[in-house]
Amino acid sequence: MRETAENIVQWQSPSNIAIVKYWGKHGRQLPRNPSLSLTLDAAHTITEVMFTEKENDGKIALEFFFEGEPNPAFKSRIASFLNAIKDELTFLTMYNFRINSYNSFPHSSGIASSASAMSALVMCLCDIERTLQKSEDIDWRKASHLSRLGSGSASRSVISGAALWGTHEKIKHSSDRYAVPVSDIDPVFQSFHDDILIISEEEKSVSSTAGHQLMEGNVYAPARFQQAYDKTTELIEAMAAGDVWKFGQIAEDEALTLHALMMSSQPSYILMKPHTLTAIDQIRKFRKTHKVPVFFTLDAGPNIHLLYPHEHADQVNTLVEETLRALCHNDLIIRDRVGQGPKKLK
Ligand code: PMV
Repeated sequence: MRETAENIVQWQSPSNIAIVKYWGKHGRQLPRNPSLSLTLDAAHTITEVMFTEKENDGKIALEFFFEGEPNPAFKSRIASFLNAIKDELTFLTMYNFRINSYNSFPHSSGIASSASAMSALVMCLCDIERTLQKSEDIDWRKASHLSRLGSGSASRSVISGAALWGTHEKIKHSSDRYAVPVSDIDPVFQSFHDDILIISEEEKSVSSTAGHQLMEGNVYAPARFQQAYDKTTELIEAMAAGDVWKFGQIAEDEALTLHALMMSSQPSYILMKPHTLTAIDQIRKFRKTHKVPVFFTLDAGPNIHLLYPHEHADQVNTLVEETLRALCHNDLIIRDRVGQGPKKLK
């Protein structure tokens, strides 16, 4: 088959920020506890997949480019991912694939891109499957399930607004295998801001993969998994009620708990930097003084996600420009908002 326009798909898929955190897994990338996130918009990956027919020899044939350049490290991760899912997407061994991937955020910003990158790739693959099967719609549960196999948190990026991954009694049809929408949320959360303060761009000393594994030996693990389940209940209730203060308290408790789990792993490790703590202190002081609902959360890294309702954007901008920007590496801040999930571009 010649490489024609019909043989190209391109999708944009966002990152997401967990409010209740996934930290600890088992089996085939199954979570130890439910997690609940907001899907973002500005921080995203655009992935293009070109495909041409080949003999089905049971093997994956792949070329991979990251931001226009061949990238052997990413290629080998993508190749093992495609091998791991070839029973679920049987066309994978029938085509040669050339994949190009671009991130909207600076290469060295220290932002974990696995959620956006894996979900963007999976959206392309599910779209190809949809075309080959001549079906109307993409199977979103399958897209979330396959994204999860690439990176746990990626399962949530395919959902618009708020997403829950992991079985929870409060959300019907929730599952450990894929994420589902949390639709009963107050509109205040649909337009929430997330300013990502890039505190450090250094590569993390301990990867997320290693961090999840260390939870297996963490003495606090059983209590943590129960706590995350209970926090999810509280968060679902707070979001339905539009209670931004409760939402923010859970976000901050979860961020500090995540990092406490790292500090209590064996061996222990710290991913926060001095400027992370200074920023947290300044955010809390500003909130107390000005009674503005502005909160922080953290991923598995030193960068701060500053969360606040749209109606307080002007007030928070003062905090950002007068105090927080100076704490960022190269003054870098990514201004993000809650978004609508993946978009097909081609
Ligand atoms: O998806 P992973 O394996 O990179 O794990 C991500 C874990 C956290 O970002 C720390 C929390 C979460 O739920 O996204």
